[in-house]
Amino acid sequence: MLTHEKVMDALKHVEDPELHKSIVELNMVRNIKIEGTHIQLEVVLTIQGCPLKAKIQEDIENSLKAIGASTVSLQFGSMTKEEREALTKLLKSNATTETGMPNMLRPDSGVTFIAVTSGKGGVGKSTVTINLAVSLARMGKRVGILDADIYGFSVPAMMAISQKPTMIDQTVIPVVSHGVKVMSMGFFAADDNPVMWRGPMLNKWIKNFLVNTHWGELDYLLLDLPPGTGDVAIDVAAMIPQAKEIVVTTPHNVASFVASRAGAMAKHTQHEILGVIENMAYFEEQDGSRNYLFGKGGGAILAQRLETEVISTIPFSNRKENNDASVFDEESYVGETFTSLAEDIINQA
Ligand SMILES: Nc1ncnc2c1ncn2[C@@H]1O[C@H](COP(=O)(O)OP(=O)(O)OP(=O)(O)O)[C@@H](O)[C@H]1O
Ligand SMILES: [Mg+2]
Repeated sequence: MLTHEKVMDALKHVEDPELHKSIVELNMVRNIKIEGTHIQLEVVLTIQGCPLKAKIQEDIENSLKAIGASTVSLQFGSMTKEEREALTKLLKSNATTETGMPNMLRPDSGVTFIAVTSGKGGVGKSTVTINLAVSLARMGKRVGILDADIYGFSVPAMMAISQKPTMIDQTVIPVVSHGVKVMSMGFFAADDNPVMWRGPMLNKWIKNFLVNTHWGELDYLLLDLPPGTGDVAIDVAAMIPQAKEIVVTTPHNVASFVASRAGAMAKHTQHEILGVIENMAYFEEQDGSRNYLFGKGGGAILAQRLETEVISTIPFSNRKENNDASVFDEESYVGETFTSLAEDIINQA
């Protein structure tokens, strides 16, 4: 016989598709009525017009039919302001310690932080961040990108994300693109800029990005830093001392010289350096020969200065192959380079 308890048990396995938590734990289930094998219930959604309604409905019907329901009539409602506040509290209590420190910053959190830096702009930090993240995700890792380039954000555009994140009060649900959870200031630019993102305190923003974002379980959080050794880099270093650093450069000597300053700064702040990535290293011609457009050896010189190694040499991508998007196809030449970088990172970081 179907009982209230059995129904609740079955619903425990139905997750909110965005929050990745059980709808029972999130207190979204109301008014269960059972008549024989007919079940009637109400589910309150976190936001009105939730685009994932159909998915929730399907999951609920399947799980109730699995325990013997013949028909399910489901009504959707939306949470009251108080209910949403309670939910935010619940999500926050999962995300922070009693002192308000993000749980993911605890040394035993299991999250590997990788900060992608450079001394000079335009060398490919964002490209490396995005493609490394996507490659790690393709290998089954749970990955997030924190676009820490507060003013010069470019991740949403480079990943062709047009969607805005869902907000539950002050908690942001990151947008998932190519299997990666993305959080960027770009989502809050211009028209819908909530109060919490304003103000001159960059470190507060970074903290907000960590605390007020529902990251869920992560294996890797990649931080795309703005160029140079500015405020954000210093704040990140202070806030996430366990972050490992990747320093990106082009083969050109001048660029690598400037990049060495960012690396020196990483050493100063005790960030472990994972290694140097030499980007736009060469162009592969039709006949397979390599054209070193920007010269040679910048990566090696920088690695030597930083007492580390060149962990990847990334060629120029053939734009046609990628239809202009910044996420390289897995099968493309450059895509394969990122796959092997991701494998190395999994093995050592
Ligand atoms: N390997 C590559 N092949 C071809 N184009 C590339 C490659 N790496 C980067 N680019 C292109 O070079 C430009 C700069 O790259 P990107 O935005 O990743 O650099 P950045 O270091 O993040 O720049 P900024 O300092 O402005 O944040 C972009 O247009 C990007 O698409
Ligand atoms: Mg960038």
